[in-house]
Amino acid sequence: MKTTKLIMLVMTIAVALFILIPNLSWADDGATIYKAKCAACHGADAAGKPAAKIPSLNGDDAKKLSDADLAKAITEKPKHAGVAKSVTPDQVKMVVAYIRELQKK
Ligand code: HEC
Repeated sequence: MKTTKLIMLVMTIAVALFILIPNLSWADDGATIYKAKCAACHGADAAGKPAAKIPSLNGDDAKKLSDADLAKAITEKPKHAGVAKSVTPDQVKMVVAYIRELQKK
Protein backbone atom coordinates (compact mmCIF):
# COMPACT_ATOMS: atom_id res chain seq x y z
CA MET A 1 0.00 0.00 0.00
CA LYS A 2 2.77 2.40 0.98
CA THR A 3 4.62 1.71 -2.26
CA THR A 4 1.52 2.52 -4.33
CA LYS A 5 1.21 5.89 -2.64
CA LEU A 6 4.87 6.60 -3.25
CA ILE A 7 4.51 5.71 -6.91
CA MET A 8 1.46 7.98 -7.18
CA LEU A 9 3.46 10.82 -5.63
CA VAL A 10 6.38 10.32 -7.99
CA MET A 11 4.00 10.19 -10.96
CA THR A 12 2.29 13.40 -9.87
CA ILE A 13 5.63 15.19 -9.57
CA ALA A 14 6.73 13.86 -12.95
CA VAL A 15 3.54 15.12 -14.61
CA ALA A 16 3.85 18.51 -12.88
CA LEU A 17 7.47 18.89 -14.07
CA PHE A 18 6.48 17.86 -17.59
CA ILE A 19 3.95 20.69 -17.67
CA LEU A 20 6.23 23.23 -15.98
CA ILE A 21 9.56 22.71 -17.76
CA PRO A 22 8.63 24.30 -21.13
CA ASN A 23 7.61 27.43 -19.23
CA LEU A 24 10.84 27.78 -17.26
CA SER A 25 13.28 30.26 -18.70
CA TRP A 26 16.26 27.89 -18.61
CA ALA A 27 14.50 25.64 -21.07
CA ASP A 28 14.52 28.40 -23.69
CA ASP A 29 16.67 28.40 -26.78
CA GLY A 30 18.63 31.32 -28.19
CA ALA A 31 15.90 32.45 -30.56
CA THR A 32 13.28 32.54 -27.82
CA ILE A 33 15.56 34.44 -25.47
CA TYR A 34 16.50 36.90 -28.19
CA LYS A 35 12.87 37.55 -29.11
CA ALA A 36 11.85 37.97 -25.48
CA LYS A 37 14.76 40.06 -24.22
CA CYS A 38 16.62 41.70 -27.08
CA ALA A 39 14.32 42.14 -30.08
CA ALA A 40 12.44 45.07 -28.53
CA CYS A 41 15.59 47.19 -28.79
CA HIS A 42 17.76 45.52 -31.41
CA GLY A 43 14.90 44.39 -33.71
CA ALA A 44 13.74 40.88 -34.60
CA ASP A 45 16.27 40.73 -37.46
CA ALA A 46 19.06 42.35 -35.34
CA ALA A 47 19.19 45.42 -37.60
CA GLY A 48 19.16 47.76 -34.60
CA LYS A 49 17.61 51.21 -34.55
CA PRO A 50 20.10 53.83 -35.74
CA ALA A 51 17.73 56.68 -34.84
CA ALA A 52 17.69 55.49 -31.22
CA LYS A 53 21.45 54.75 -31.24
CA ILE A 54 20.83 51.04 -30.85
CA PRO A 55 23.55 49.23 -32.82
CA SER A 56 22.85 46.56 -35.38
CA LEU A 57 23.96 43.10 -34.29
CA ASN A 58 24.24 41.71 -37.81
CA GLY A 59 26.37 44.48 -39.31
CA ASP A 60 30.09 44.35 -39.99
CA ASP A 61 30.98 45.84 -36.59
CA ALA A 62 29.16 43.16 -34.64
CA LYS A 63 30.50 40.42 -36.94
CA LYS A 64 34.03 41.45 -35.98
CA LEU A 65 33.33 40.98 -32.27
CA SER A 66 34.36 37.66 -30.75
CA ASP A 67 31.85 35.51 -28.90
CA ALA A 68 33.47 36.68 -25.67
CA ASP A 69 33.06 40.33 -26.72
CA LEU A 70 29.39 39.77 -27.48
CA ALA A 71 28.81 38.03 -24.17
CA LYS A 72 30.61 40.84 -22.37
CA ALA A 73 28.52 43.45 -24.17
CA ILE A 74 25.34 41.65 -23.14
CA THR A 75 26.25 41.39 -19.47
CA GLU A 76 28.28 44.55 -18.90
CA LYS A 77 26.87 47.42 -20.97
CA PRO A 78 25.08 49.96 -18.78
CA LYS A 79 22.25 50.01 -21.36
CA HIS A 80 21.76 46.34 -20.60
CA ALA A 81 21.41 46.75 -16.84
CA GLY A 82 17.81 45.51 -16.95
CA VAL A 83 18.31 42.61 -19.31
CA ALA A 84 21.67 41.45 -17.92
CA LYS A 85 20.07 40.53 -14.60
CA SER A 86 17.45 38.37 -16.27
CA VAL A 87 19.76 36.11 -18.27
CA THR A 88 21.88 33.26 -16.96
CA PRO A 89 25.42 32.66 -18.33
CA ASP A 90 24.02 29.72 -20.35
CA GLN A 91 21.33 31.92 -21.85
CA VAL A 92 23.98 34.47 -22.83
CA LYS A 93 25.81 31.70 -24.71
CA MET A 94 22.61 30.66 -26.46
CA VAL A 95 21.82 34.24 -27.46
CA VAL A 96 25.37 34.74 -28.79
CA ALA A 97 24.92 31.59 -30.92
CA TYR A 98 21.61 32.94 -32.18
CA ILE A 99 23.19 36.31 -33.09
CA ARG A 100 25.75 34.36 -35.16
CA GLU A 101 22.82 32.68 -36.95
CA LEU A 102 21.28 36.08 -37.68
CA GLN A 103 24.64 37.35 -38.97
CA LYS A 104 24.69 34.59 -41.59
CA LYS A 105 21.40 35.74 -43.11
C1 HEC B 1 16.79 48.64 -23.55
C2 HEC B 1 17.20 48.38 -24.91
C3 HEC B 1 18.15 47.20 -25.12
C4 HEC B 1 17.92 45.87 -24.86
C5 HEC B 1 16.69 45.25 -24.23
C6 HEC B 1 19.10 45.16 -25.31
N1 HEC B 1 20.02 46.04 -25.82
FE1 HEC B 1 21.82 45.57 -26.62
N2 HEC B 1 22.28 47.53 -26.77
C7 HEC B 1 21.41 48.58 -26.54
C8 HEC B 1 22.10 49.85 -26.77
C9 HEC B 1 21.48 51.22 -26.63
C10 HEC B 1 23.42 49.51 -27.14
C11 HEC B 1 24.57 50.47 -27.45
C12 HEC B 1 25.02 51.12 -26.18
C13 HEC B 1 26.44 50.89 -25.84
O1 HEC B 1 27.23 50.48 -26.71
O2 HEC B 1 26.78 51.13 -24.67
C14 HEC B 1 23.50 48.05 -27.14
C15 HEC B 1 24.64 47.33 -27.49
C16 HEC B 1 24.66 45.96 -27.67
C17 HEC B 1 25.80 45.20 -28.15
C18 HEC B 1 27.15 45.76 -28.59
C19 HEC B 1 27.13 45.96 -30.09
C20 HEC B 1 28.41 46.53 -30.63
O3 HEC B 1 28.51 46.62 -31.88
O4 HEC B 1 29.29 46.88 -29.84
C21 HEC B 1 25.43 43.90 -28.18
C22 HEC B 1 26.28 42.69 -28.62
C23 HEC B 1 24.07 43.82 -27.69
N3 HEC B 1 23.64 45.09 -27.40
C24 HEC B 1 23.35 42.65 -27.56
C25 HEC B 1 22.13 42.57 -26.90
C26 HEC B 1 21.47 41.32 -26.60
C27 HEC B 1 21.96 39.95 -27.00
C28 HEC B 1 20.34 41.64 -25.91
C29 HEC B 1 19.34 40.67 -25.28
C30 HEC B 1 19.89 39.75 -24.28
C31 HEC B 1 20.26 43.09 -25.82
N4 HEC B 1 21.38 43.61 -26.42
C32 HEC B 1 19.24 43.79 -25.24
C33 HEC B 1 20.10 48.47 -26.13
C34 HEC B 1 19.48 47.30 -25.72
